[in-house]
This record gives sequence, C-alpha cells and structure tokens, in this order.
Amino acid sequence: MKQNKILFFHNNCHFFNTLANELQKENYHIWHENSIGNSLAILNSEDIHIIVSEIRKTDTNEDNIFSHARKIKSDSLHIALVENPDFSVITDIINNGGIWHLATPPWTLQKIKDLIFQAVCSLEVKPKKDELSNDLEEAYKKLIDENENLKLVINRQTNELTDSHQQVDNLNYEMIRRLLIASEYRDDDTGRHVFRVGKTARIISDCMGLSREFCHQIEIAAPMHDIGKIGITDTILLKPGALNENDFETIKKHVVIGAGILEGSEYPVLQMAKEIVQYHHEKWNGEGYLCGLQGEAIPISARITAVADVFDALSSKRPYKESFALDKSIEVIQKETNRHFDPAVVEGFLKAEREISRLYKELEADV
Ligand SMILES: [Fe+2]
Ligand SMILES: [Fe+2]
Repeated sequence: MKQNKILFFHNNCHFFNTLANELQKENYHIWHENSIGNSLAILNSEDIHIIVSEIRKTDTNEDNIFSHARKIKSDSLHIALVENPDFSVITDIINNGGIWHLATPPWTLQKIKDLIFQAVCSLEVKPKKDELSNDLEEAYKKLIDENENLKLVINRQTNELTDSHQQVDNLNYEMIRRLLIASEYRDDDTGRHVFRVGKTARIISDCMGLSREFCHQIEIAAPMHDIGKIGITDTILLKPGALNENDFETIKKHVVIGAGILEGSEYPVLQMAKEIVQYHHEKWNGEGYLCGLQGEAIPISARITAVADVFDALSSKRPYKESFALDKSIEVIQKETNRHFDPAVVEGFLKAEREISRLYKELEADV
C-alpha cells in the first residue's frame, strides 16, 4: 500500500508531535520541522505529498513554506493553518502558495486528521481524473477524425452521385438529339435546325425571367416541335415551291402525329414537349392551327418555341426559299408581334437579340 508523505512546518511542537504519532500509526510517513532550511532540504530530497503549515501574521514571504514548495514541487497539496485570518495575509498565502485548504482555529487533532485524509483522497483521485480527462480528449480527437473521414466519404459519394445523375441527363439529351436527327433526316441531316430552336427558346425564356428549370426544360423540349413530321410523306415534305391546300392539310397533321408520339409521359420535359408539339402553330391572334387558340390560352412554352422556330426557318435555306439575313429575320418577327406572336415573347426575343446573333454566328448557321 502506498505510504503518503507529509511535512509539518510549525512552532506548536506538542500539538504536531501528537498528530504525527497518531498519523504514523495509520501508515503515513511524517516529517515535522520548524526550520525553513531543513524543510526545504526535505522537499528537495523526498517526494512529499502533503504539506501542513502554520501561517502567522508576522511571516514574511521567505517564511512561507508553501511558496518555496510550489517552486520545487507543483503537485503537493497544501493545508494552511491561519491563526489570525487577516485579509492581506490570506491573499499572500493564496497567491504565492497554491493553497488546497485554508483552516482557521480552533484546530483539533481530529479536524486536521480529517483534512489530511481528504487531501489523500484528492491525491488518489487526481491521476484517475487526469487519466479520464486524457481518455476523453483522445476519444474526442478520434471522433473529430472519424467525422472528417465521414465528411470526405459523403462528399465523394455525393460527387459520384452528381456525376452519375449528370451522365444520365447527358445520355437522355443525347438520345433525344439523335432521335430528332433521325426524324428530321429528310430535310436537315445535321439536326442543326432543332438544336438552334432549343438554344434560342432557352435564351428567350431566360430574358423573359422564367425559372431556371423552365429554361432547362424548354432547351430539351423545343427541338421536338416537329417530331410528327416523321409521319408525313416525302412528296409533300420535300416539295419545292408553295404547297397547295391539300398539301397544307396533310402537313398540319404533323401536330397530331407528334402529340400522339409524346402522349401520356410522366416526365415534365416530355409533357412540355407534347404541349409544344401540339400548339407551336397556334397564333396569338387565334388564326393558327390546329385548335385556333388565342392569346394566353396557348401554353407559354409553345408561344416561345413558335418565335424561335419561325426565326430559324427565316434565317435558314429551305427547298422552297433562300435564307434571310439575321437583321431581316428579326424585322419579320417584330412585324408579327400581336398577330402571330405574343408581344411579351417578342420583347424577350428582342432583349436576347445580341445573344441569339452571337449563337448563330458561332454555329455558322446556313444563312
Ligand atoms: Fe411544325
Ligand atoms: Fe421547325
């Protein structure tokens, strides 16, 4: 069993002799001194656990064993017995001596023994507390590390998921584009017309302040506007010159065929594509086909696509016409405001004019 070492520094020999005799019976090793020099020698040579000292009002700092002990040993516990509890004395003792307990008279053997016992308990508990505190600190650091690792794993998986969503999006877009090229192959084997219509519709939507999601969807949906032409015969579709009334009635069917192809989809982008297909030949003044809808009864996606589609048709060479210069095409769109086209869409188109012109030049449109 560990023997606790206690140093008494005192004048009252009888009281401390009796106390020392009693404590030695209880497995304490006691030194009792009244000389500061001898006390310091003991502190330097022994691992003293507890120091008990009287403090008198007349003591100088040199007489204060606690302040010496603090410099020599930082982990011993100090019990100060203060006969005259003067404020200035107490302040000095506490400031200089690292006091564990300050005891005032009357001092009895039992009172001091109890204090020493409490000090011993405190010394025994301290390493366990330190160990626990270290364990807690260690566990906390481990938790932080694990948290950081977890964050890295989540970030990596989120990035992988985003990449894979992006890939699925790209694949869908690519599939739609290639199917459109197939459907348009007879009069546009490059798919450039539908690509430009999608881009132009997006730019107009953006300039009209429509939502980001709408702009994204219309860029994918607008290129499908003429998907129904897949069901129209070559003799009419590729006929040079003007169409007669019968031809025109046949051409009109591309709206019905296209809407039928896209009917019943649960995907918003295909639902938008269906309304574009169905209504892109309606006119703001109600003179379009197939239903003769007027004004805002025509879905906004179809009103925007109508402008983008006609603008591209004007700017491109077709079997029955030469291409217009961009300025000329813009002028025609402007003239049709309130008649063929929604004025709000034409306003958006004019705001987007510079960006659309830049797009056409970049794509080297066949103008
Ligand atoms: Fe059409
Ligand atoms: Fe078109």
